[in-house]
Amino acid sequence: MGSGVIIGVVDSGITPNHASFMDDGTMPPKPPTWKGSCRFRNKTLCNNKLIGAIAFRGSRRPSPKDAKNDGHGTHVASIALEVLLITPMFLGLPGHRIEHSHLKAHLAIYKACSTSDLRVMRDIVAAIEEAIKNGVDILSLSLGQQSLPFYDDDMMIATLSAIRAKIFVCMAAGNSGPYRKSVENGAPWILTVGASTHDRRVSATVKLGNGVEVEGESGYQPSTFNATGNIIFPGFGEGKYRDMSVNVKAAGGVGMIVLDTSREGATTLSYDYVLPTAHVNYTTARKIVNYLRNTSSAATATIAFNGTKFGARPSPTVGFFSSRGPHPYNGGIIKPRYPWTGVNILSAWPLDSDQIRMVLRAHIFNFDDGTSMATPHLAGIAALLKNIHKNWSTATIKSAIMTTANRFDLDGNPILDDYKEHINHANAIDMGSGTRYNDTQVSTVAGSLVQCSIVGSIAPEDLNYPSISISLDPSKTKSINRTLTNVGDANEVYNIDVEEPKGITVVVSPSSIQFSQIGEEKNITLEFSSKGMPLNQGNILDGQLQLDSGKHFIRSPISVTIL
Ligand SMILES: *[C@@H]1O[C@H](CO)[C@@H](O)[C@H](O)[C@H]1NC(C)=O
Ligand SMILES: *[C@@H]1O[C@H](CO)[C@@H](O)[C@H](O)[C@H]1NC(C)=O
Ligand SMILES: *[C@@H]1O[C@H](CO)[C@@H](O)[C@H](O)[C@H]1NC(C)=O
Ligand SMILES: *[C@@H]1O[C@H](CO)[C@@H](O)[C@H](O)[C@H]1NC(C)=O
Ligand SMILES: *[C@@H]1O[C@H](CO)[C@@H](O)[C@H](O)[C@H]1NC(C)=O
Ligand SMILES: *[C@@H]1O[C@H](CO)[C@@H](O)[C@H](O)[C@H]1NC(C)=O
Ligand SMILES: *[C@@H]1O[C@H](CO)[C@@H](O)[C@H](O)[C@H]1NC(C)=O
Ligand SMILES: *[C@@H]1O[C@H](CO)[C@@H](O)[C@H](O)[C@H]1NC(C)=O
Ligand SMILES: *[C@@H]1O[C@H](CO)[C@@H](O)[C@H](O)[C@H]1NC(C)=O
Repeated sequence: MGSGVIIGVVDSGITPNHASFMDDGTMPPKPPTWKGSCRFRNKTLCNNKLIGAIAFRGSRRPSPKDAKNDGHGTHVASIALEVLLITPMFLGLPGHRIEHSHLKAHLAIYKACSTSDLRVMRDIVAAIEEAIKNGVDILSLSLGQQSLPFYDDDMMIATLSAIRAKIFVCMAAGNSGPYRKSVENGAPWILTVGASTHDRRVSATVKLGNGVEVEGESGYQPSTFNATGNIIFPGFGEGKYRDMSVNVKAAGGVGMIVLDTSREGATTLSYDYVLPTAHVNYTTARKIVNYLRNTSSAATATIAFNGTKFGARPSPTVGFFSSRGPHPYNGGIIKPRYPWTGVNILSAWPLDSDQIRMVLRAHIFNFDDGTSMATPHLAGIAALLKNIHKNWSTATIKSAIMTTANRFDLDGNPILDDYKEHINHANAIDMGSGTRYNDTQVSTVAGSLVQCSIVGSIAPEDLNYPSISISLDPSKTKSINRTLTNVGDANEVYNIDVEEPKGITVVVSPSSIQFSQIGEEKNITLEFSSKGMPLNQGNILDGQLQLDSGKHFIRSPISVTIL
């Protein structure tokens, strides 16, 4: 369960006395490699689970505690230990359950920013440097800024130092989707995490005056409320989800129906609204709007709350807000590639948040959304892998996660995009253009003097990355190599198979490889050429490289951009 692994979280702080961060007596002692400190005024707030916490200058308060009304740091830190997708109790509602199946990894908290003030770059860099000195194994960074060339991006440079110190780094892809080129934190050494949905919905049913019933979502599920009054229809973009409900309530509304546009598409959110609310998808929104138009002033509706339901389909899908590629500066590596659950994530929240009238005050959880919430799930998974495979490098862990990710949804279909309500597959992301850095710029990123003429350079597509993205002139043939390292069993034979991108021939040699020992390396070559049918310039064609030993199955996505 990840014991002995230290996960560092740089965020807005933590709520230390929350049940999620208490040691119930089952935690192993803190690893002897830990060199950090506990900077709460009350030192006993640290324990074998929360082994350290420190705040950096620029934070409004010197204490590493999270703000009371904005629990971003508390929320993401708890997720890092709950990768098993548990459903803790929320507001004491039926249909939820608490499962104490936390990882046994240790948490080190670095308070360096708050959600309202993400650009405290100096503090964030100082926090990452402190985490490196303290001996963390994994850094979970649910923060970002608009992409910059790497030599101008202090955060990317700091994370490269972390990678050199053998620390696994995962970072949020950003929440600026569905627009192209919105991906953040896209350096090749980082696992860049997008956000997907899951199959759980906290349902709110809207019954229209004409008898039609439609489904939406709401995290607030009151059992009794005022039945008469005005229901207000804010558009999705008209403020922060919960704030909209506060405003509607203050204005005398009794209920609220949040209407998606085609941009939000199929994503609905189960926020802790302060009055009866249903957040409905675009199809449903159009139905409701039609009803309103047709019935004008005589329109009526009620909202009924049906608690948690599982089995939503399609699932998972990509949340509309998840930032999209290509990354403008990463030189041809596709980012983000794999989303992780980041929509309607229920996790720990500061104890005395005013919105929560809770009985069990030590068990306060709240829903939140974002690639921020997806990122610590991957930190937890990296902790599991690191604990089992102590000598795996950070690149090996990243490769293991990427090459074993499922490309299909729960029904075996390609994963769909919530934007525009599932008309697109989620994986048609094009390549970033390469940028040429001079010696000064490369030296800045590397943190040491580098002379490109001496160390040489390779094309981005020749980087031994777990995914393959190339550009192809259809009149030519292109070959790329990959070196495979056996982390499976000794004496394993893998058959290699390619699902060719449409219109492209891919020849792999050899067509099967035999490993006789663990850690052994084998090279393969992939040769790409056009099948001769017309291919449009700029087209992006997807395929798969698959290796199957009968015991282990691994997969590298292939993307070909036509020149
Ligand atoms: C310090 O924290 C511990 C654990 O939460 C608590 O039991 C104790 O009362 C606190 N001490 C003070 C002086 O607040
Ligand atoms: C939109 O919500 C309705 C429930 O009202 C559901 O039946 C439908 O499948 C949803 N559409 C999409 C594209 O998810
Ligand atoms: C219900 O609405 C009435 C009239 O608007 C108001 O006086 C009353 O306080 C409300 N009750 C609740 C429980 O909100
Ligand atoms: C409402 O009016 C629209 C045209 O504005 C029509 O297409 C639709 O069928 C009507 N819906 C209902 C429920 O009557
Ligand atoms: C939700 O509950 C209401 C009221 O009990 C009921 O009318 C409705 O059919 C339920 N909807 C679903 C989808 O279960
Ligand atoms: C690299 O480019 C930067 C920005 O254009 C420039 O200031 C610097 O002098 C260049 N360095 C070398 C070694 O060419
Ligand atoms: C790929 O491997 C082949 C065969 O070992 C070699 O000839 C070729 O130079 C390699 N290509 C690159 C780009 O390293
Ligand atoms: C990792 O450690 C295992 C067990 O100690 C060993 O068998 C294996 O060869 C090592 N792998 C690498 C890549 O060093
Ligand atoms: C595989 O390719 C790498 C990089 O080109 C090379 O250094 C290595 O010697 C090759 N290994 C084998 C077994 O051919």
